[in-house]
Amino acid sequence: RQHSCILAIETSCDETSVAVVKDGHEVLSSVIASQIETHKAFGGVVPEVASRKHVESITLIIEEAVAKAGIDMKDLSAIAVTQGPGLVGALLVGVMAAKSLAFALNKPLIGTHHIAGHIYANRFVGDIEYPCMALVVSGGHTELVYMKDEGSFELIGRTRDDAVGEAYDKVARALGFPYPGGPHVDRMALEAEGVVDLPRVWLEPDSYDFSFSGLKSAVLNVVNQSKMRGEEVRTEAIARGFQESVVEVLVEKAVRAVRAYAAKQLLLCGGVAANRGLRKELSERCEREGISLIIPPFQYCTDNGAMIAAAAHLKWKQGSFTPLDMKADPQMPL
Ligand code: KG4
Ligand code: ZN
Repeated sequence: RQHSCILAIETSCDETSVAVVKDGHEVLSSVIASQIETHKAFGGVVPEVASRKHVESITLIIEEAVAKAGIDMKDLSAIAVTQGPGLVGALLVGVMAAKSLAFALNKPLIGTHHIAGHIYANRFVGDIEYPCMALVVSGGHTELVYMKDEGSFELIGRTRDDAVGEAYDKVARALGFPYPGGPHVDRMALEAEGVVDLPRVWLEPDSYDFSFSGLKSAVLNVVNQSKMRGEEVRTEAIARGFQESVVEVLVEKAVRAVRAYAAKQLLLCGGVAANRGLRKELSERCEREGISLIIPPFQYCTDNGAMIAAAAHLKWKQGSFTPLDMKADPQMPL
């Protein structure tokens, strides 16, 4: 079983996304309806609003993805969907849509883990060599995942407080930028001339865990002190100091994990993998140390349906399908 054509639905947070992917790596269509404009007014994602928006757009997005792929739905091999983790009300919309399609078309259903999707977005670049190490950096997750083999995931490190994307968004907000703030901080950091020195949080010497809430508080303190003293807030220099701290810790721990586990490859993924500072530093470090690194193209770093299809393709190869009575699982383990 090698050739597949999978339609995948991703609605775990604030993007309604549907893609059609051939053989797990050839993207025939990828449609992403972002709700960012709606959530901006609230400064972050409002779960109830997200669910309602997904309901409004899911059918249209499915139709658009099928039309753009130029396929006949009866030729699909399977319907895949993000089963979890994520916002339960948001996940439910995608899961119901996927079940309905699978039932109506009499196709197998494949419930997929959101992080497996982020990791397998790297399949759009090339083949993955095992054993490998994945550095997952998104709005909800910051994890180091060791993969002995295809489809095998061992969590060796995770954030103990804020996810890195969450820290980016909070720092951006303190600096006066709208949600999602990551790209703004990234831009400021690269344009900055000065830099505000901020702490690096390493935790115990042998730990692969992360912590970003102290760094976030340090940024808030610098901002508040400037305001109290009536001084100008050095937005760009703070953004650069924050980004340098985050990138240094992520790169160092990822490289250490690659060495300790004798991984053949390092995979970067998740929304923060779109960060230009991180992409550059990690690429340069891996180049210097002779570590093979893959990073997904920008459009497959943040949430998208294509990555879910890529992960689902592996389950499809094994004939590992999900019963139609499956439930969305907001806390789904990897
Ligand atoms: O993977 P994703 O789309 O959603 C989750 O599964 O969480 O990640 C979204 C996160 C947001 O926190 C956003 O600010 C961050 O990714 N992000 C970035 C950049 N682009 C997106 N963070 C830093 N630099 C960027 N260029
Ligand atoms: Zn995500």
